[in-house]
Amino acid sequence: MNTRSLYFRLILWYSALVILVSLAFGAYTYHGVQSRLYSELEQTFTRRAHQIADNILVHVHEKSPAEIASQIRSVYSPAANNRFIRILKSDHSILYVSMKPKDGLFDPSAIAIPESFDAANKIEMLPGNISMLIVNVPVTEAGELFLIEMGAPTDEFEKTLHGLVVTLLSGLPFMILIVSAGGYLLVRRSLKPVENIRATAEQITFGNLSNRLPVVATGDALEHLSVTLNQMLARLEDAYQQVSRFSADASHELRTPLTIMRGELESMTQRESGLPESLRERIGSVLEETERLSHITESLFTISRLDAGEAKAELITFDLADLVKTTTEQMSLLVEEKSIVLTVNAQQHILVKGDPARLKQVVVNLLDNAIKYTPDNGRIAISVSSTEHKAVLSFIDNGIGIPVDALPHIFERFYRADKVRSREQGGAGLGLSIVRAICQAHGGTVEIESTENKGTVCRVILPLAEEV
Ligand SMILES: Nc1ncnc2c1ncn2[C@@H]1O[C@H](COP(=O)(O)OP(=O)(O)O)[C@@H](O)[C@H]1O
Ligand SMILES: [Mg+2]
Repeated sequence: MNTRSLYFRLILWYSALVILVSLAFGAYTYHGVQSRLYSELEQTFTRRAHQIADNILVHVHEKSPAEIASQIRSVYSPAANNRFIRILKSDHSILYVSMKPKDGLFDPSAIAIPESFDAANKIEMLPGNISMLIVNVPVTEAGELFLIEMGAPTDEFEKTLHGLVVTLLSGLPFMILIVSAGGYLLVRRSLKPVENIRATAEQITFGNLSNRLPVVATGDALEHLSVTLNQMLARLEDAYQQVSRFSADASHELRTPLTIMRGELESMTQRESGLPESLRERIGSVLEETERLSHITESLFTISRLDAGEAKAELITFDLADLVKTTTEQMSLLVEEKSIVLTVNAQQHILVKGDPARLKQVVVNLLDNAIKYTPDNGRIAISVSSTEHKAVLSFIDNGIGIPVDALPHIFERFYRADKVRSREQGGAGLGLSIVRAICQAHGGTVEIESTENKGTVCRVILPLAEEV
């Protein structure tokens, strides 16, 4: 369980709060019931004491103590009811005292004679840990002050109160369960919009920056959050478009002067006959660099157009196997130069829907890499095949391979695993970025597996054109 999660903490706080409130309410109930039980008994005792005074103690001097005792017994039967009644005369002598109750719970003679005849309610502890509630009621009859003491052991309410506590506490585990389950559902429900925002945000990439997060009209922090994030997305989209437009414009602007420079340099070496050999060589090397620059500019232009999600050139359905065969034939000179053995396995017709010029670029870039990074007399195998819904185009070479730590970066722009060697071979590290952008634009993927010094496998997977 993740104890730092918002879920967990909200549920914990919520449950703790509910349980605390319930406990406080339980304590309040307990206290209320307890004081009510006591005060009711006190009132009953006071009332009875006055009844005894009015009905039995009248003409007290004309009655014998035995007469009084029998009257009290017949009306109140204290021993049978577990009650204590004692009447003291003004000289603190006992006029009447009830007998030991039937169950022998308390001993009336163990209850101390009070010193003053004031009205009082008190709890007295008797031997054997018996607690008694005793109400003292002073009354005056026939000119003499009497104290009537009425009492009962408190264990009967203690039992009632104990029952109450047991009931309250036994409900607690269920309550905790219900409260946490309810809390969980509540938290989940209220965090659902956050989850929606997260799920949508996860889907947003540079390819679909125009998408927006769902705005929940709650009028609170959640709505503000989604609105603010959407504003941020709008700014990001704007900035991203500016950058793509800038690189597209820049590479576009560079193309023309570069073409002119190349033309000038070429015509210089071809037409000017009187040029000294050293100058001709230097012009040749400038021309080479200019060509490289042109190539980079072209690549950058391609990338920025793909980034901008170039207005999809009309998509046509064509045979990928055919495209691979013609393209490899066109590049066979490069293969022969390095005495590489190239096998092309592309017999089946494999129809895909897309821009053939762009997909040709994929083949060119991948074969170019395979040739560049495979030593003389190496082997390259190209195959085009299909699975259920996919066209699979693979390039396998037994060249120098890619170091493990470079592998995650090879699709990055301007990334080259071996800078020195790659530069010698004229690469700027843009080829694979272009391949990936084209594959993605066609709803496909490209993956590369490689072992250093063993060889490399590049696999392009494209959706097959739906049969018509
Ligand atoms: N078939 C391959 N064999 C070995 N290394 C490769 C292969 N294809 C690509 N790489 C590595 O990936 C890097 C990036 O490839 P790419 O984007 O085409 O750039 P480059 O312009 O260098 O060819 C290359 O510099 C090279 O280090
Ligand atoms: Mg390349």
